[in-house]
Amino acid sequence: MRSWRIAARVGYVSAEMVGIFRAPSSVTLGHFSTIAGGSSLHKPMQSFCCAFSSSSMSPPSKAVIYEQQGQPDQVTRVVDLPAVELKENDVCIKMLAAPINPSDINRIEGVYPVRPPVPAVGGYEGVGEIYALGSAVRNLSVGDWVIPSPPSSGTWQTYIVKEANALHKVRKDIPMEYAATITVNPLTALRMMEDFVKLTSGDVIVQNGATSIVGQSIIQLAQIRGIHSINIIRDRIGAEEVKNRLKKLGADEVFTESQLEVKNIKSLLGNLSEPVLGFNCVGGNAASLVLKFLRQGGAMVTYGGMSKKPITVSTSSFIFKDLSLRGFWLQNWMTSHRADECRVMIDYILDLVHEGKFKYEMELVPFQDFHRALDKAIGKLGNHPKQVLKF
Ligand SMILES: NC(=O)c1ccc[n+]([C@@H]2O[C@H](COP(=O)([O-])OP(=O)(O)OC[C@H]3O[C@@H](n4cnc5c(N)ncnc54)[C@H](OP(=O)(O)O)[C@@H]3O)[C@@H](O)[C@H]2O)c1
Repeated sequence: MRSWRIAARVGYVSAEMVGIFRAPSSVTLGHFSTIAGGSSLHKPMQSFCCAFSSSSMSPPSKAVIYEQQGQPDQVTRVVDLPAVELKENDVCIKMLAAPINPSDINRIEGVYPVRPPVPAVGGYEGVGEIYALGSAVRNLSVGDWVIPSPPSSGTWQTYIVKEANALHKVRKDIPMEYAATITVNPLTALRMMEDFVKLTSGDVIVQNGATSIVGQSIIQLAQIRGIHSINIIRDRIGAEEVKNRLKKLGADEVFTESQLEVKNIKSLLGNLSEPVLGFNCVGGNAASLVLKFLRQGGAMVTYGGMSKKPITVSTSSFIFKDLSLRGFWLQNWMTSHRADECRVMIDYILDLVHEGKFKYEMELVPFQDFHRALDKAIGKLGNHPKQVLKF
């Protein structure tokens, strides 16, 4: 077995990697026991003490790691990671849930612009319960629910050690899967509704990828503000059912791509005015459809490229409609803004969840079924809701 070192607090790894997951300073692969995909994971130690001194250790962790970038279903595996020393400002978190997001897949594939050096633990957001505190941590308690804030790599593991100031305490009276998924996608939806066009009640927006968590979030955040949404989904068996579900969330109109293959797309607007703002996370034809709906001077914000196809814009869209093409990347927004601002927005959305005003489809999957969840998340098994690992 090849021997390699993984991240540590010490100097030979990057600062980012130190934040990813903490392991003893020099660890060889031989120290991990690998668990084949699909086999059951044994429970972490339950009897571990919660009152930590500065020299205490976390429990050992089970983690999804990848040693090289590549096809996620081929390069990921579940291993045992050794216990980690808890420093005085550290918190040991017992992870409860963490999603598999498209950007997690892209990081493993090696196509995301910012990605952890390998070997790395997968995952970027999630929620955990505080298991133990370093001796100097004052503002958190054992049993609190916390999320990494800003999010950071390495959430697909049973125990994480992080500095207290990199964690945000969240309310516990909501389903854990919402706390686990609240940052990356709902925050993106919220920012994109705020940052490009000043929307007022009665305005109309149009988006593709409406079944995504971002898409479902946009529908609901729009409705709360009195903004109408036109939504585009991929053709599929059971499209009517999906349309009804999105309409129940507040979507005004939902079209499959093939329904929009008409000469005069605006004839489908009904009583709605032409959209002022569009959101695109698909590219290719689905992006062209968003552009076709937009009114004179409208803007399309691209934030994802699920189809991996480029965006094609007709010359007339620029000359006669003066459309603007913009882009959004949450990670960029978060680095240029204070963490406090993100945390206020996270709490706002979690309050909406608590009030029953904000929801989206998810499938909770036991951690031991990681590889099946991954297959669903990468589209190998057809259309599936967001896969959320439950530890
Ligand atoms: N720029 C940013 O800062 C930022 C932040 C968060 C998310 N994102 C991006 O936002 C997008 C949605 O993320 P999410 O986590 O909300 O998604 P998600 O809940 O995991 O859902 C995936 C979405 O992608 C669609 N999809 C999957 N494969 C596709 C394909 N080959 N062609 C067209 N559509 C496809 C699915 O449609 P079906 O229902 O038809 O399967 C579904 O709507 C992703 O591109 C993600 O990278 C960007």
